[in-house]
Amino acid sequence: MNLNAPAYVKNPKLIAWVSEMAALCKPDTVYWCDGSQEEYDRLCQQLVDAGTFKKLNPAKRPNSFLACSDPSDVARVEDRTYICSEKKENAGPTNNWMAPADMRATLQPLFDGCMKGRTMYVVPFSMGPLGSPIAHVGIELSDSAYVAVNQRIMTRMGKAVYDVIGTDGAFVPCVHTVGAPLQAGQKDVTWPCNKTKYIVHYPETREIWSYGSGYGGNALLGKKCFALRIASNMGRDQGWLAEHMLILGVTNPQGKKYHVAAAFPSACGKTNFSMLVPPEGFAGWNVTTIGDDIAWIKPSADGKLHAINPEAGYFGVAPGTNFHTNPNCMASLDKNVIFTNVALTDEGDVWWEGMEKDTGSLPDHLIDWQGKDWTPQIAKETGAKAAHPNARFTVTATNNPALDPAWDDAAGVVIDAFIFGGRRSTTVPLVTEARTWTEGVYMAATMGSETTAAAAGQQGVVRRDPFAMLPFMGYNMSDYFQHWLNMGDKLKATGAKLPAIYCVNWFRKGDDGKFVWPGYGENMRVLKWMIDRIEGQVKGKDNVFGVSPTYEEINWTGLNFTAEQFKTVTSIDKAAWVQELKLHEELFTQLAYHLPSEMTATKAAIEQRLEA
Ligand code: GTP
Ligand code: SPV
Ligand code: MN
Repeated sequence: MNLNAPAYVKNPKLIAWVSEMAALCKPDTVYWCDGSQEEYDRLCQQLVDAGTFKKLNPAKRPNSFLACSDPSDVARVEDRTYICSEKKENAGPTNNWMAPADMRATLQPLFDGCMKGRTMYVVPFSMGPLGSPIAHVGIELSDSAYVAVNQRIMTRMGKAVYDVIGTDGAFVPCVHTVGAPLQAGQKDVTWPCNKTKYIVHYPETREIWSYGSGYGGNALLGKKCFALRIASNMGRDQGWLAEHMLILGVTNPQGKKYHVAAAFPSACGKTNFSMLVPPEGFAGWNVTTIGDDIAWIKPSADGKLHAINPEAGYFGVAPGTNFHTNPNCMASLDKNVIFTNVALTDEGDVWWEGMEKDTGSLPDHLIDWQGKDWTPQIAKETGAKAAHPNARFTVTATNNPALDPAWDDAAGVVIDAFIFGGRRSTTVPLVTEARTWTEGVYMAATMGSETTAAAAGQQGVVRRDPFAMLPFMGYNMSDYFQHWLNMGDKLKATGAKLPAIYCVNWFRKGDDGKFVWPGYGENMRVLKWMIDRIEGQVKGKDNVFGVSPTYEEINWTGLNFTAEQFKTVTSIDKAAWVQELKLHEELFTQLAYHLPSEMTATKAAIEQRLEA
């Protein structure tokens, strides 16, 4: 078939690969995306014409669209995600695995003719600033125009990527299909997808193959598939870190700036924290966003860790976002946004659960994410949600009023502290500082969190989510713990001061089932305590697994939070921790192969202190 490759594509390996994929997938046409605004507008209009997009009222939400997915295709599918390393032990016990040859044999017939009746979009993208020594490029082949326009927001997408690749530069090949070929004359549906789904990674050959889903991390392959699962392999081999972390800058009233990278599991507050607005009592403090989901972190020769955000946009959770919880996010969403699975108002605008906190009341009528009528009465009777709990917005980072001036800096920012935080209604205290790098790695490795709507499957069950990377680890989890320990040793060897490591939990609940900690902007109070610790201005007090704040060490100006309430969110209950450590033990049993001895030694030390 005619590839129609533009003259500026000069890489024979790339052209040969596109040709091979076109021959396999058999699209009607191949279209090479150039990343221009004209192209974006044209593809969006095409999606409107196809019924996939609804154009929102330009007076309310200029140049913005709503897509509603098939109800079966609303989140990442962890049970369909595979790490196909040559050896099973290199995928490790936390990943689904199949031998590469077997997986290729499985996928071959599925991909054969999978794009019939459709266009194959060739989407060139850079993760990280174009040409930066920290960045890597990928080419995604997709039969979804929705993917193409989302990738233009989420990545540096466009023809300039071909200059980076040149005639022989490397790229990560990513193939994506919704798995819904069209027979001649067959009418398309608004959200094509397939019941059968495969999200497949070949770490040794650095390839990604995705079949059957058009949604989020299953389909926007630069994000989880490349920037975490494949990049974690690159990081292990090349001595850097690919992490599920936001990156923020925080400046104190004296103008001193710190950078913090924080790993929270999916839908546990990264976007929120990265855009934090300091509350009353924090005059002169300022928080700026470098990234909201992924960090690539590389050590320099002087022992500093430099972090970049490989992405260029936010694919963030809509429900719960409002002017109280995240005003900067709301301001980011006022134009040029793609919304997926939120509700449509009668005025042609969007709505999701949580917005009633801004307006003081529920809307009288909506069209919900499944296209059904929604009223407060229907919601009350049936519990129907107007927006899917994993409804999301796609928006460019430059829409964010709190965007850090260095967000696009090729050199990255120097990390002063790491934070790890799960969603735990019990047991885990508000904040703890690790006394050593190893203690910090232990905290991160044993982190538990209640599952959320970001992944298909049961919600609200506590599972271990080491480093918030459980669904995103591209190799053996225990080898990854070792990689973090090795990184610490390498930094220590330079004589540099290592970043501090903290563990937080914003989500402890009281007997009434409500969150005790006010969260959101109020998390600044905890962030400031961390900085005070870094500066040696507060002592904290030792507990069984680290250092925690006293009530007096936190700035409470502007918030009525009693010492009693503070106790509820910071207490360490011995019985609960005996139980918790059993779960650590279970994790270590599962991860026994290559588990660093530091992990079991740290656990033994905690147990001893707990007994004392
Ligand atoms: P992914 O994009 O899935 O990786 O998630 P994320 O970590 O960026 O999650 P996000 O910031 O979008 O938060 C998702 C949910 O957590 C929303 O329902 C928020 O309302 C809630 N949330 C965020 N921060 C806080 C907090 O400090 N306290 C409480 N109680 N809820 C929070
Ligand atoms: C997550 O689930 O952690 C996300 C959303 O950031 S997705 O891109 O769909 O994986
Ligand atoms: Mn995420």
